[in-house]
Amino acid sequence: MPLVLKETTIVMGNRKPFAVVLLCCLLAAVAAMPAEHAEPVQDGAISTYLVHVAYSHAPRTTRNTARLTRAYTSFLRDTLPGGINAPAPSILYSYAHAMTGFAARLTARQAAHLEAQPSVLAVTPERVYKLHTTMSSSFLGLTPFSPLVTESNGGSEAVIGVIDSGIYPKGRESFAANRWMGPPPQSFLGECVSAPDFNATEYCNNKLVGAKFFLKGQSYYMNRSRTDTPLDLDGHGTHCASIAAGAPVPNANYFGFARGTAKGAASGARIASYSVCGGVGFGCTQSDVTAGINEAIGDGVDVLSISLGFDEDQLYKDPVMIGAFRAVLEGIFVSTPAGNDGPDYAPVESLAPWVCTVGASTMNREFRVPVVLGNGKTYTGYSLYSGSDPYGTFKPLVYGVDAGSAICEPGKLDPSKVKGKIVYCVVGALDAGWAVKQAGGAGAIIGSPESYGDFARADTHFFPAVSVTRADGQEIRNYSQTPNAVARFAYFGITSKGFLSPPSPRVASFSSRGPNRLVPEILKPDIIAPGVDIIAAWTGEASPSGLAMDTRRVKFNINSGTSMATPHVSGIAAMLKVARPDWSPAEIKSALMTTAYNLDNSGGAIKDMATGKEAGPFQLGAGHVDPNRALDPGLVYDANEYDYISFVCALGYTPQQIAILTGGSPVQDICSRHGELAVGDHNYPAFSVVFKSYDEKITQSRAVRNVGSNGDAVYTFSYRALPVGWSAIVNPSKLVFDEDNDTLEYEVTFSLLPTVRNSSETEAHSALVWTDGKHKVVSPIVLTWPAPTPTVAVV
Ligand SMILES: *[C@@H]1O[C@H](CO)[C@@H](O)[C@H](O)[C@H]1NC(C)=O
Ligand SMILES: *[C@@H]1O[C@H](CO)[C@@H](O)[C@H](O)[C@H]1NC(C)=O
Ligand SMILES: *[C@@H]1O[C@H](CO)[C@@H](O)[C@H](O)[C@H]1NC(C)=O
Ligand SMILES: *[C@@H]1O[C@H](CO)[C@@H](O)[C@H](O)[C@H]1NC(C)=O
Ligand SMILES: *[C@@H]1O[C@H](CO)[C@@H](O)[C@H](O)[C@H]1NC(C)=O
Repeated sequence: MPLVLKETTIVMGNRKPFAVVLLCCLLAAVAAMPAEHAEPVQDGAISTYLVHVAYSHAPRTTRNTARLTRAYTSFLRDTLPGGINAPAPSILYSYAHAMTGFAARLTARQAAHLEAQPSVLAVTPERVYKLHTTMSSSFLGLTPFSPLVTESNGGSEAVIGVIDSGIYPKGRESFAANRWMGPPPQSFLGECVSAPDFNATEYCNNKLVGAKFFLKGQSYYMNRSRTDTPLDLDGHGTHCASIAAGAPVPNANYFGFARGTAKGAASGARIASYSVCGGVGFGCTQSDVTAGINEAIGDGVDVLSISLGFDEDQLYKDPVMIGAFRAVLEGIFVSTPAGNDGPDYAPVESLAPWVCTVGASTMNREFRVPVVLGNGKTYTGYSLYSGSDPYGTFKPLVYGVDAGSAICEPGKLDPSKVKGKIVYCVVGALDAGWAVKQAGGAGAIIGSPESYGDFARADTHFFPAVSVTRADGQEIRNYSQTPNAVARFAYFGITSKGFLSPPSPRVASFSSRGPNRLVPEILKPDIIAPGVDIIAAWTGEASPSGLAMDTRRVKFNINSGTSMATPHVSGIAAMLKVARPDWSPAEIKSALMTTAYNLDNSGGAIKDMATGKEAGPFQLGAGHVDPNRALDPGLVYDANEYDYISFVCALGYTPQQIAILTGGSPVQDICSRHGELAVGDHNYPAFSVVFKSYDEKITQSRAVRNVGSNGDAVYTFSYRALPVGWSAIVNPSKLVFDEDNDTLEYEVTFSLLPTVRNSSETEAHSALVWTDGKHKVVSPIVLTWPAPTPTVAVV
């Protein structure tokens, strides 16, 4: 079922306008495509299923996929009885790394029969994912001389696997190898494959070391306009890959905007691209995504950067979380996006403790356009329009409602009311500007959703159009309804930087927030990283706006989303992995989280753009990533397979469900062997404490490893902000390490004070800080408790 198409209906007050905007590339292509192509192929009642097989019944071959597939084909032949074996099922992929089993085209009856087999753990119909510079690297403190870059040689011994829409290396210097770059590490087994439009010999090098495609699952939903290829027909994959590890490209810019040297977070690291998403108005199927992750694990990548998300209701149903579980046990760090559904309550995605879930924040740069009204008032518009038409003369201003469409939908504006005018649209996607242009308008001012607060997105318009904040939009709307209203754009194409910008970083309004709806005790998102107005490489196969009617092609594009925040963390993790080869993925994540910062460049707490108020752990996780400090965190919180199994046991998962994640066979007493830990005892570098009653006392245990240079370090604890309405007892209150034992345990007992009963608040936050005088190991604390039961008034 092409779920992504549901997202294309933009209605006023839509809860997810930003998700829609980010899917621009997909939307446009959908619009341009004959409608029937968007429908799944009605192939009888056959659809794609993921079949999870118990390890003890799985073929014992891992790298030889042809043999695996033959084995699963005969398994199907032997298992399906005469009555239901037609039409003969076909296997799309067989998997040994990202999950154990295969993806096949089956009828519902065949699927049900398979699921009843003892050798089969689960059979799930596949779903479709949504896809969710360069100044970001200097903003992050990643100069050629910064400690993390020098200690890791820019991450040159690491390969980052990018699971996305492919890569566009033609004429893109971001993916060029410099002549000092040797071959990739020997542990990497991947390669580039050729296609008619992708010459692996020509495009691949010591920078782009892998390029493969997995698009069979997608072919059942629609025809790609091109033969299968690693080439990026969308732009998203190219953008994300160059954010993670693009080589430095001087004088990069987007129509003059954001001019400077564009480079990835780990500009020395290698890129292996796995194309699993289409560029034809479609997201990514679960079978293709699993195939990409499967291949990347088999190839031996060091980091997996997966900028796509899916909101399954259980970890064992989510192929990215399953694949990530396996990857992490192979020592691969996995970063995933929080999602772009903010600022609503608790829509955050990527909820497992074994992935690093990244939210999006701003940098100290904005693309502003002064909007002047006839009444003399000036507002700040945001836009990446760079047309050369000399603007600046007043034009009549008309409200979209009075011209046929409040949100300026294409085809709905009355040209006789719009011609030569600037139109105010209440909210709108990229194509609102297009709609105004089509109707003969001179420009568009587009309001933002109410939930966005102070945020208005600078979009890659190809028509004079700007976004304004909700509050400004309302004033402009009111003015547009006065007689003879006029407006003008003072000038396009300015970049305000540094002191001229508001404090940064701020949490982007669209960045999805906690709490974690599956496991509230695991704080999500984990961290924030730059995800607003990021310049990075773009495909030559699609326009920067993603609109099909936009014929422009660019080498660099500016884009926003948690998809863009995620590869920043992937690049940083790749460098950490090189600089600290003995750290596990959990320890790398711990180092990133406990050293993250919480103050903006004005010295105040990092703000949430949606509310203008201080952001808490549900908005920013542990804080903003601080790459160089992550190199020397002092203490780290580790987690291994045993801990993750204990964790899923504490969630109440059955042995079958656990086996889906681990790739083992169901072990009936697995959880009693793992002791009776509570979910909150998972060794996470953050505390999310969920009170069910006011009187509860909640104890959570943790273990920390000393990775500082002083083996005899002594750590004492404090809180970042004084507890108000709650208390916590830390035991022991001092951690005395010695050379023989670098790992120590402690526990914290949280309780609420009676005052919270009468408070209107149901949440408090602070942070637990361990310090030895040199390091500060900071773990966010967030406590939630039930709202007071309203007293029943007697009338
Ligand atoms: C691919 O590129 C290489 C190197 O530029 C060239 O020698 C080869 O002929 C090309 N192959 C095809 C099929 O175009
Ligand atoms: C895909 O293309 C093939 C051959 O052109 C055609 O038979 C098939 O119906 C197409 N499928 C869809 C979903 O458009
Ligand atoms: C806009 O006009 C409406 C109706 O007159 C009024 O209620 C509202 O306060 C005005 N809003 C602004 C921002 O001026
Ligand atoms: C190190 O200390 C921890 C916690 O106090 C303890 O559980 C562990 O057994 C100790 N390990 C060694 C090798 O002494
Ligand atoms: C809460 O409010 C009730 C009623 O106003 C009062 O009787 C009680 O003492 C208050 N409790 C606390 C802990 O302040």
